[in-house]
Amino acid sequence: MKRVFSGIQPTGNIHIGNYLGALKQFVELQDEDECVYCIVDLHAITVPKDPKELRENIRSVAALYLAVGIDPEKSIVFVQSDVSGHAELSWILTCSSYTGELSRMTQFKQKSREKESAPTGLFMYPVLMASDILLYDTNIVPVGDDQKQHIELTRDLAVRINGKYGEGTLVVPEGKYMKSGARIMALDDPTSKMSKSAENEYSRISLMDTPNKIKKAIMRATTDSDGEIRYDVENKPGVSNLLSIYSAFSGIPVEKLEETYRGSGYGDFKKDLVEVVMEAVTPIQQKYRDVMESGELDTILKEGAEKADAIAEKTLRRVKERFGLGR
Ligand code: AMP
Ligand code: TRP
Repeated sequence: MKRVFSGIQPTGNIHIGNYLGALKQFVELQDEDECVYCIVDLHAITVPKDPKELRENIRSVAALYLAVGIDPEKSIVFVQSDVSGHAELSWILTCSSYTGELSRMTQFKQKSREKESAPTGLFMYPVLMASDILLYDTNIVPVGDDQKQHIELTRDLAVRINGKYGEGTLVVPEGKYMKSGARIMALDDPTSKMSKSAENEYSRISLMDTPNKIKKAIMRATTDSDGEIRYDVENKPGVSNLLSIYSAFSGIPVEKLEETYRGSGYGDFKKDLVEVVMEAVTPIQQKYRDVMESGELDTILKEGAEKADAIAEKTLRRVKERFGLGR
């Protein structure tokens, strides 16, 4: 059995891009592999957060994990800061990383460019991510393709450390990049990715959105003027994005959808898409409420942290021993 590890930051507005690009695959993997799913709260504070809001978002993402179908009987679900090994291994990895390679990370370059002075946490973010992965002797990391560079860095660090401290010090992981739904685009601007933080709330569909909001977002979605429902990302990015969403949720291939909607107008197509999205999202929202009301969340996260800690503890002991740390 392979070990799978992935994490999502506890921010609000978890959207259908996160679902189709990440969460849906998390659920599918848990029947084949030993999965560890984390709410990466230490990553969230690389940009200062309101403490009350952060705590709420941690609970909310945990509940969403369960609501989309992650089963705590099969997978380990926990909060990153509950397992102190993440921060500890992160320091050990830091000492084997170079400022040069961290400076080359695209996400760091993009995020620090917007700021007057770059926070050190943003710079160190990829090392903490490597620590998350390596702490669990992870084989597979399912993520969106925006995380490719971070996964490569994780592999480089593992290989480098194994070279220096002996093979088997760390397990070298592999990224698993999602095919369908790997890139859901913004509804108002289909040339940029759907994001949690975009100002226009109609640019995304969040998993907890009301039916009314979902309807509005889809009916307003940018299309084009030629009126043809056809998949052509280059010339028809808006319609193509809607077709991708439709197909990902319904399981109907895009070509089949093109056939079905040949001759139909955008309005009818969009109305059907509203139905399809509602059908997928409604049970998730119901389950979310059930989880929140049941009061089971704390127990699940506590038990998850204990199970995660047991694995982390073993890895850390091995790593410290190899490095000559401790008594
Ligand atoms: P983040 O929103 O950066 O915390 O991402 C959580 C997960 O969702 C990561 O695996 C991302 O790659 C994935 N993801 C984020 N935005 C999208 C999107 N628009 N389409 C597909 N996957 C996405
Ligand atoms: N950096 C990831 C993102 O922004 C989140 C993340 C943190 C992660 N640690 C991880 C993903 C470990 C996979 C494995 O989406």
